Amino acid sequence: MVKHILILPGDGIGPEIMAEAVKALKIANEKYSLEVELEFDDLGGAAYDHYGVPLADETLARARAADAVLLGAVGGPKWDTIEPALRPERGLLKIRSQLELFGNLRPAILYPQLASASTLKPDVVSGLDILIVRELTGGIYFGQPRERRTLDNGERQAYDTLPYSESEIRRIAKVGFDMAMVRNRKLCSVDKANVLASSQLWREVVEEVARDYPEVELSHMYVDNCAMQLVRAPKQFDVIVTDNMFGDILSDQASMLTGSIGMLPSASLDRNNKGMYEPCHGSAPDIAGQGVANPLATILSVSMMLRYTFNQVQAADAIEKAVSLVLDQGLRTGDIMSDGCRRVGTAEMGDAVASALENL
Ligand code: NAD
Ligand code: IPM
Ligand code: MN
Repeated sequence: MVKHILILPGDGIGPEIMAEAVKALKIANEKYSLEVELEFDDLGGAAYDHYGVPLADETLARARAADAVLLGAVGGPKWDTIEPALRPERGLLKIRSQLELFGNLRPAILYPQLASASTLKPDVVSGLDILIVRELTGGIYFGQPRERRTLDNGERQAYDTLPYSESEIRRIAKVGFDMAMVRNRKLCSVDKANVLASSQLWREVVEEVARDYPEVELSHMYVDNCAMQLVRAPKQFDVIVTDNMFGDILSDQASMLTGSIGMLPSASLDRNNKGMYEPCHGSAPDIAGQGVANPLATILSVSMMLRYTFNQVQAADAIEKAVSLVLDQGLRTGDIMSDGCRRVGTAEMGDAVASALENL
């Protein structure tokens, strides 16, 4: 059966890294008879320039109709000063929310070849394989009311709201427990229950869900401690489940354990495992247009797509293997460069992965 994939390259390095992910996807398609058909559209700043909005209705309709969406990254200085409602990031938030992609999986895995690329000592990170499960369609990102106003005394004030309903917490907690069940059966729920009412409910509901998963060892940790523990002893974690904003911050932090944010893929899934796949990093305006960005997070997001939405385990494994072979060859983009390796650009890295995949 033909599978339709909507490709949204986005802004900044988005189109550069996407070109390399598409190369890998096309080879996997041939080699494993995946029957994928690719369509392309704009999101973020590119969509604002093309349609006047960061997510056009027709693009959203195509995303709904597609079997999966693959996204590069959005945003950039060009659009930082436009009206907040039209900013590129709003397009990303809208597609996540409209497609109900509440379950965001962000795996931080250290490829052994990159042990010396991490800023942490090799023995702290070697063998690292943790999964951050981030709630993606609720919390402070979407809470109402939110407002910017001028007070009677003339002072400017702004506020956001951090709401979580028990059904939102329950469904993301289940994702965390289900992931723990197929891994090492350890789940750490991260919150700020010593301060926030939403976190107190979070903890209560996670405890309730835990009754259905007696085999999983559940712990709770405050987010500030978690940030510290991720650097002190990251291998104590197996699966972390947390809210939208904490998950955003902790996953960028966890990425450095793997050598670079350019190594971290993600899956954003709805209740039927239909989803959108994207690297965790952004559009990297500081290196956009130079052909030096690391495309591996996006290529590994293709692997997650084949695994989670299409159940093509062999093809997904093959992409990961191809990435590992290329790292064995000593090829490195600047962000993961270390002594004795050969520095390559985005396209050379993508070509090397494609050719390793072809020859597997
Ligand atoms: P960023 O992730 O774009 O960049 C942070 C740093 O990491 C930069 O120094 C960048 O060069 C580096 N980096 C990121 N990806 C890389 C890669 N693949 N290879 C090598 N180096 C890489 O974060 P930022 O600078 O805070 O944000 C830039 C823009 O991206 C903003 O507009 C932001 O809103 C947006 N953003 C979008 C997404 C997304 O689309 N999912 C995620 C994060 C940030
Ligand atoms: C991410 C990004 C987004 C987020 C922004 C661009 C809206 O940082 O995907 O991690 O905060 O979720
Ligand atoms: Mn982020």
